[in-house]
Amino acid sequence: MAAIPFARAPVNFETAAPYLKEALDNGWLTTGPLTERFTAALSDYLATPNLVALSSCTAALQIALAAASLPAGSEVIVPANTFIATFETVELAGLKPVLADIDRDTWNISLESITSRISENTSAVIAVPFAGNPINMDELQALCRRHKLTLILDCAHALETRYRGQPLHHYADYSCYSFYATKNLTTAEGGALICPAEKLELVRALSLHGMSRAAWKRYAGGPWRYDIIATGYKANLTDIHAAIGLAQLGSLTTNHARRLELVERYRQQLGGLPVRMQHMPANTSVADHAHHLFCISLSANAKRTRDDLMNALAAKQIGFSVHFIPIYEFTHTREEYDFPQANFPHTAEYFAGALSLPLYPTLTNAQQDEVIATLLRAFADT
Ligand SMILES: Cc1ncc(COP(=O)(O)O)c(C=O)c1O
Repeated sequence: MAAIPFARAPVNFETAAPYLKEALDNGWLTTGPLTERFTAALSDYLATPNLVALSSCTAALQIALAAASLPAGSEVIVPANTFIATFETVELAGLKPVLADIDRDTWNISLESITSRISENTSAVIAVPFAGNPINMDELQALCRRHKLTLILDCAHALETRYRGQPLHHYADYSCYSFYATKNLTTAEGGALICPAEKLELVRALSLHGMSRAAWKRYAGGPWRYDIIATGYKANLTDIHAAIGLAQLGSLTTNHARRLELVERYRQQLGGLPVRMQHMPANTSVADHAHHLFCISLSANAKRTRDDLMNALAAKQIGFSVHFIPIYEFTHTREEYDFPQANFPHTAEYFAGALSLPLYPTLTNAQQDEVIATLLRAFADT
């Protein structure tokens, strides 16, 4: 493991132990009372009664696409700069993914690019607030409404993101959250889906084989009989995972504040380097960003390559990553689709220099100083 890892979950045994003890000692382990409490707390935090806790964001995307009843084979527009889950879930749903470019400055899906990709077969857009950066939700929502498109948000990075004071799901039909190990709030593996009120029962059922009544409710004294109301998934969150999440809910606000502090230090101290940093859209403030990732993109005319920077970080055992390898770069997408790189100039430019640096609440100033000094030295060395 790197001396300064790229990511570190904001939870430890001491804080999680009381919740885990409860989850283990009640003898149930899977979806039950702790998942119910985690769901209630998240619903509170995100100000919605229409949230279902799930086993992953990938599952949330699958269930959103199923619940939305999009016409078979219709087109769903997704950004080229995202994790493969955003794309593959469209394929798995029997729909056709269409890739859009990102905005050169915000690194979020470009509204102009979406507009250029809309056809008479388009049924939905999946937008990703990249790194936690708010999208201009007024414009995105208006665009989707104008073209009668279902708007799904892949909020894997965007738990704390706000737009005009509201969590982003406020502006979308379906919003999918991730509690994967590296996320701002983690359950090791986990996720959540926020859906329209009238779809809540369907989404609950889809998360568990299409069952009308979850097992816990039946074993907890309800009637034994259940019905199957749709072809479902096995995507329920377990109480063991919920326990890990419950242990972090009290620190969400302070953890977010610490992320913001670290981002401001990175921005100030790396500001003189030939790198581009993410812009926020108009109508938003730096606190509206979830600061899930801190990504830079090395300028094409820099005297160092990205490999130089990666080698310098690796020599100091400092973890780093790249978000993301564009969807059009993979063997699968090259073989199965026609996505010429020329159609994604901003994604290609960003990716050519993309580098994500360590960012998590327990990263100390001294550790961050070492990351910064390593990068500054890499540029200073001849
Ligand atoms: C943008 C994005 N979407 C979806 C996912 C998938 O999340 P999960 O691992 O919870 O399925 C990730 C995971 O890293 C992601 O970054």
